[in-house]
Amino acid sequence: MATAELAGKHLVLGLTGGVACYKIAELTRLLIKAGATVQVVMTDAATQFITPVTMQALSGRPVYTSQWDARVPNNMAHIDLSREADAIVIAPASTDFIAKLSHGMADDLLSTLCVARDCPLLVVPAMNRQMWQNPATQRNVAQVRADGIDVLGPDSGPQACGETGDGRMLEPEAIYEAIASFFTPKILSGRRVLLTAGPTFEPLDPVRGITNRSSGKMGFALARAAQQAGADVLLIAGPVALDTPWGVYREDVQTAQQMHDAVMRAAADYDIFIGVAAVADWRVDHVAEHKIKKTADRALPSFNFVENPDILASVAKMPFPPYCVGFAAESGDLDVHGEEKRVRKNVPLLIGNLGPLTFGQDDNEVVLFEASGATKLPRADKQALARTLIAEIAKRVPNTSLIK
Ligand code: CTP
Repeated sequence: MATAELAGKHLVLGLTGGVACYKIAELTRLLIKAGATVQVVMTDAATQFITPVTMQALSGRPVYTSQWDARVPNNMAHIDLSREADAIVIAPASTDFIAKLSHGMADDLLSTLCVARDCPLLVVPAMNRQMWQNPATQRNVAQVRADGIDVLGPDSGPQACGETGDGRMLEPEAIYEAIASFFTPKILSGRRVLLTAGPTFEPLDPVRGITNRSSGKMGFALARAAQQAGADVLLIAGPVALDTPWGVYREDVQTAQQMHDAVMRAAADYDIFIGVAAVADWRVDHVAEHKIKKTADRALPSFNFVENPDILASVAKMPFPPYCVGFAAESGDLDVHGEEKRVRKNVPLLIGNLGPLTFGQDDNEVVLFEASGATKLPRADKQALARTLIAEIAKRVPNTSLIK
């Protein structure tokens, strides 16, 4: 998650009764870390599960639990709180609270401010699977959705009561991602984005291989930013230790050839292709079937290399290629190599890493190379840079690709 991704956003975070309340401590921390201000409002039942003191300490603001709070001079907390908010998030949302929402009931502070709101409302259900499946709950959820309220989840899996099924609240990270996505302008709505990320691994024998220092962070950050911008995203990833961004489809591969094949199978269906992977240029022509052992005379092994396919160039050569974006990691002379590489690969846009190679680091400084010239972007962390790059790409994608 990026720093200050939610800077300037003010959220009312409403907790209702449910054991999942304990997870809202973590959600609050994530929201605050991302720069949001969070005003917590709790129902009576919620205070049975987590204390207002904990929520106050984490949010840095006094928590509201009652309609009759003497701190609010005009006694209009239900109006004031919702007017200040960019969105209200109810998490966990109990069966009872969803029922109240669907009927427009207003018998405590949280339900009243939901009815009185003039901002979007996001609801994150958490309940036992039978309660979730109950026809009354399903009716109420359908009504709430029909009223324009976003319902996030629920998840499926083991529940606090010992049963397993639908009704679990989404994990705090997933709720955070949904909120961040909610606030992202949908500049890639209706677009399909295919990306490669990470290194490739070219085996020498069953236990050894050649790889490189790409962490995959930039490609994953771009996949996340594209998804949040409303695109349908397929990420083809080499071996990396990163979680799949929320809402992104992911296919894992090892070798350059596998990455090439996966990309070529998918590319015709996509509007945009972003090749972020650090693809190995060479592989050995023959992978040893068994582990290569040291010999008695200590003879050094030797390998014959063959060239791997150039994935980006192959996509760019398609009869109706997606809008192709390349990346270039250079250890020097970026201004020369960047434009030369863009022309050689025949892509409209190539993003060059400026300065020392930034494998594994959290921030990056890049230059955009295109036919009209080169543009340097300010140094930023990879998540913020990813959002900027997605905006730059969205500006350049021809409208015609929409008719694919
Ligand atoms: N690329 C690719 N397939 C390859 C090699 C590179 O798709 N076999 C893509 C990368 O994903 C990146 C761009 O091409 O978008 C540039 O990669 P880079 O490694 O910088 O370029 P190379 O073509 O390998 O050139 P060189 O190693 O000579 O710098």
